Amino acid sequence: MRKKIVLFLLAMLPMVHIYAQQTLIRISTDETDLILQTAETGRLYQSYLGAKLVNDTDLKNLTPYISRPSTDSSVTPRGWEVYPGSGAEDYFEPAFVMQHNDGNLTTIVKYVSHEVKPIDGNATETIIQLKDEVYPVEITLHYVAHARENVIKTWSEIRHTEKKPVTMSQYASAIVYFEDTQYFLNEFSGDWASEAGMTSQQLRFGKKIIDTKLGSRAAMHAYPFFQVGLGQKVQENQGKVLVGTIGWTGNFRFTFEMDNVSNLRVISGINPYASNYELKPNETFTTPEFIFTLSQEGAGKASRSLHTWARNYQLKDGKGDRLTLLNNWESTSFDFDEKILSDLMKEAKELGVDMFLLDDGWFANKYPRVNDHAGLGDWDVMHSKLPNGIPGLVQSAKEAGVKFGIWIEPEMISPKSELFEKHPEWAILLPNREPYYYRNQLVLDLSNPVVQDYVFGVVDKIMTENPDIAYFKWDCNSPITNIYSPYLKEKQRQLYVDHVRGVYNVFNRVNEKYPDLPIILCSGGGARCDYEALKYFTEFWCSDNTDPVERLYIQWGFSQVFPIKSMAAHVTSWNHAASIKFRTDVAMMCKFGFDISITEMDKNELAFCKEAVANYHRLKKVILDGDFYRLVSPYESNHTAVMHVGEGAGQALLYTYDIHPRFGGKLFPVKLQGLDPHRNYTVKEINLMPGTTSRLKENGKSYSGDYLMKVGIEAFTLGQMNSRVIELTAE
Ligand code: GLA
Repeated sequence: MRKKIVLFLLAMLPMVHIYAQQTLIRISTDETDLILQTAETGRLYQSYLGAKLVNDTDLKNLTPYISRPSTDSSVTPRGWEVYPGSGAEDYFEPAFVMQHNDGNLTTIVKYVSHEVKPIDGNATETIIQLKDEVYPVEITLHYVAHARENVIKTWSEIRHTEKKPVTMSQYASAIVYFEDTQYFLNEFSGDWASEAGMTSQQLRFGKKIIDTKLGSRAAMHAYPFFQVGLGQKVQENQGKVLVGTIGWTGNFRFTFEMDNVSNLRVISGINPYASNYELKPNETFTTPEFIFTLSQEGAGKASRSLHTWARNYQLKDGKGDRLTLLNNWESTSFDFDEKILSDLMKEAKELGVDMFLLDDGWFANKYPRVNDHAGLGDWDVMHSKLPNGIPGLVQSAKEAGVKFGIWIEPEMISPKSELFEKHPEWAILLPNREPYYYRNQLVLDLSNPVVQDYVFGVVDKIMTENPDIAYFKWDCNSPITNIYSPYLKEKQRQLYVDHVRGVYNVFNRVNEKYPDLPIILCSGGGARCDYEALKYFTEFWCSDNTDPVERLYIQWGFSQVFPIKSMAAHVTSWNHAASIKFRTDVAMMCKFGFDISITEMDKNELAFCKEAVANYHRLKKVILDGDFYRLVSPYESNHTAVMHVGEGAGQALLYTYDIHPRFGGKLFPVKLQGLDPHRNYTVKEINLMPGTTSRLKENGKSYSGDYLMKVGIEAFTLGQMNSRVIELTAE
């Protein structure tokens, strides 16, 4: 008997050896530590996520089991498992759920190995292998930690070698856990023309879910990013804040679950709604990237970390320049001809912007695109409107001395189009029910590789025939409706996932063939705003709502996560009550453009806009690549203020806006941020209407950075929709 026990123990040795080692994996940025640890069982747990630990010797004190109180020794201790499947001792939300070939629904993965490799200069990638010992299922976790930017992105790969496909009903990208006294969630919600509105709530026991089911875009009613205040409400300049976002241009889901011991888990991934995914043997399911930063100094710091990270690594041409432009959508809508367009090109030149952008309505002949009821899919120029075709327009732009850009919406199809007559099977459309529409159109079935080829071909054909086109606006105006893919047939449950993968396949092909082509991502305003899409796009359109007052809130919302250079803002004629100066000053804090005819302006207004464009070009390095500070929130005041600080704090730009001041309201000085306290800065108000002079008390004077940050500038006024742009130059 004793011999048998010894033999058994010997046989167990390799296993015991691996598990007894208690592997510790440290994923660090300069400011954050994420520490994972194996338990004796070989399962992998998060033992710490927080501010960076200073003493390496402290790591040995961490433990993989977190569950407290654990007074009952008969209960198996619970931990924060890094990729929990269903069916184990944890009774809260898992990261993934898989039904095996024998019908069993449990998966428990254990640590196998890990490696750490340096990437991208100051980043590391930690790759962890996990596997189930009962079922042939393997999980690979990836964590890319950007040290300087304090950003971690993580995703998972799921694989198996069972005989037949397994069905996954959940497949999150990642799960992270927190233990704090209280948690406050800032979520971002809205609709068309009211994007990214911020609201805050305290999280209590149970689950709060933010998700969308729009199919062809991430956002509209909910936006694919969030902030969690740990221990207190999210504050701009102090406190622990987790800011997270998912790179997935489709249905997403964030789950915030507070458990019985007041710990919080945050699960991010594709929304598995109506998407039980069938994973074939040896196929790898790669989840989207979950990207997060943990700031110890409030949301402002978190935003700047994400902005810098995005410019350095994620956004297309993140370090490059951006083109100013004049767009025709707001001034002409579908009603234009060659003469109107060539006049607008001259107006673009007169304004001093780099480019003219032609919007919707230039294509289709049998069912001409004269309104939004027809023509999507027929990407031939409308001869009746534009007899000289795109080459004629490119030529007119050349003659006017501006670049030329063009609008497309290639993932869509109008039921009234030649394409639909030829290929009704390319549209996502239910064969046996009354169709319903969003903006009178249907979404092409991008799960079908033939349709992917077609969509890529739309861009490729325009570019091949007109290599001088300098810019595209890529729109996507409809969520998926009539959810049925003629291509996937009985595998409809794959549609939401495979469609988005098809979209990426097209984005990727366009990007590979035209790596230097700037493209703005648009989706009925700002409904496509995620960090996977932005690998292929230089900027996104924040909203069709260009009322400057509304825009102050919308831009405030998006700036929490996206860098200024990716956020396009145009001066239009929305809100005539606002002066052209106010409208311009609001748009100028972002990636700047116009969508208004200068014939709507008087002499002074035009002169003002020209000067604003010149100022923008002169200062765009600071605006596009500087650090962005949100100084006064429009949610907390009748005024708002933001600023850009250029590299090395040598130059800065302050923007102050009086939205709806109250009679006799107290005006607080605006305290600046990000300046060098030891240098002196000259204060100069710019963007002044011709014939006016600055009434800013500090104008023309010089102050130390310290003074400007502690005492501030008296820039707010009691005027409705007044604004100021103030340049600060270090001496
Ligand atoms: C969407 C966009 C607009 C414009 C129109 C054209 O609504 O957001 O900017 O391009 O489509 O139809």
